[in-house]
Amino acid sequence: MDAIKATFDPETLISRVEQLIDSNQLRAARPLLAAVRRISKPNANLAQLSARLSLRDGALEEARRGLDEAIHETPDHPGLRKCRADLRQRLGDLDGAARDAAEAVILDRFDPRAKALLGAIMIELGRPVDAATCLAEALLACPEDVLVREALAAACEMAGYPEAALATLEAGFLVNPTATVLRGAAILLCVKTRKFEHAVRLAEDARAAGLADSTIFGLMGHALSNLGRQAEAEAAYTSALQLEPSDPYVRHLVAAAKPMNDAGGKPFDYLRQLFDDHAPRFDAHLLSLGYRVPEAIAALMGHHPRVRRCQPIDAVLDLGCGTGMMGACVQDLEIRTLVGVDLSPGMLAEARHKSLYGELHQNDLMSHLNREDRRFDFILAADVICYLGDLQPVFEAVNRCLARDGWFIFSVEALLVEDCSDTDGWKRLLHGRHAHSDTYITEIAGRTGLRVESISRPTIRYDGAIAVPGYVVALTHADGRPG
Ligand SMILES: C[S@@+](CC[C@H](N)C(=O)[O-])C[C@H]1O[C@@H](n2cnc3c(N)ncnc32)[C@H](O)[C@@H]1O
Repeated sequence: MDAIKATFDPETLISRVEQLIDSNQLRAARPLLAAVRRISKPNANLAQLSARLSLRDGALEEARRGLDEAIHETPDHPGLRKCRADLRQRLGDLDGAARDAAEAVILDRFDPRAKALLGAIMIELGRPVDAATCLAEALLACPEDVLVREALAAACEMAGYPEAALATLEAGFLVNPTATVLRGAAILLCVKTRKFEHAVRLAEDARAAGLADSTIFGLMGHALSNLGRQAEAEAAYTSALQLEPSDPYVRHLVAAAKPMNDAGGKPFDYLRQLFDDHAPRFDAHLLSLGYRVPEAIAALMGHHPRVRRCQPIDAVLDLGCGTGMMGACVQDLEIRTLVGVDLSPGMLAEARHKSLYGELHQNDLMSHLNREDRRFDFILAADVICYLGDLQPVFEAVNRCLARDGWFIFSVEALLVEDCSDTDGWKRLLHGRHAHSDTYITEIAGRTGLRVESISRPTIRYDGAIAVPGYVVALTHADGRPG
């Protein structure tokens, strides 16, 4: 009798629905929630559960309607505020999300979930110091929460405190000794900050504890290779591949560790997937990093004699055009044919929406250049040459496709002087990127019949608070004649 009574107690049923949603048993949660709604008056808790269920189902508009109505009725319900903050964050309304999350913190100042949510939104808003404050308070209340710890470390890194980020992650090894994700994040951070010895030590600890996954082995290989320990690096890459033979990032790391002279053999799957995944958020993300390369390239085009004389430009080729940011920066120029080429269908779809290009081709830039029989007045490459190591093949191909007085304008990440000693003038970085030195660029230009028309060294973007220096270069035919 008691059991039957308990089953019909709305509070008990509501907490059962909550459990079912938390464990993603949505098919069981739906009818139970419908039953509770039949026996209870509408209230804020029920509205919150319905909205959470709609969110899980991906029915964002339905969730938004329900939450707006419920918050209108009960503005002081922290759960409703958190739920709408989550929804608004997914819809890209970050200011609205921050207002709701802040309201939830004010309504229940001991709720670590509300602080963690506000912290995560602050990261997306590019306010890492505020994010770190919220997340540090949340972590104090629940030190075992891996996601909050990871987010706090990310906020510290973005704010320009990589030491604090690493300390946060390493402190997590004690609370969550088996959390591979924290170890991976710490190793990645060491690699990014060039603490290769430390990265190897952490990876070895993870391996000894039986916690190393393919990413950890991959990063270990990267760190070892930077320390010049090639044989050990290869062994680490082999372990990574054995664990995850089809993972494009691991395959990319392994391939990138080998010398690559043939552009056709490059591991494009990884880059294609990387940019397909980022395509919908790419423009907003890059602008938040202070990315201004397309503007810098367009400004340099303004110095070309033909542009200065306001003469029309016949043809421009935008290599690695991505979502079309470069196209947007040159739309005031009178260009008869603007051609874009990119590996990633997702990025090209975004570019297509902007309707700026006469032609868009999905292809590797080397294959495209090798097939082109037109001559271009400008060949542009904003933040794409950094995905190539050896520049000789691309400079040769550009030479063939550049008009008589044409300019090839591109950006690269600058190779720092202290990194030059043991390289050929370029060096692999993480995520498929490379850095190049200015002397290397000048030398390869000379070898391929090109010469430097102009070279400047601006900040090309920000990595957290750290300015990333690069070069914006204009090359032209060495003797004024196409090759
Ligand atoms: C960082 S984004 C820059 C996009 C654009 N140029 C801009 O400035 O906004 C790099 C782009 O280069 C593309 N990419 C990388 N390697 C490429 C290759 N070998 N051939 C063609 N596109 C490539 C990527 O798919 C991505 O869209």
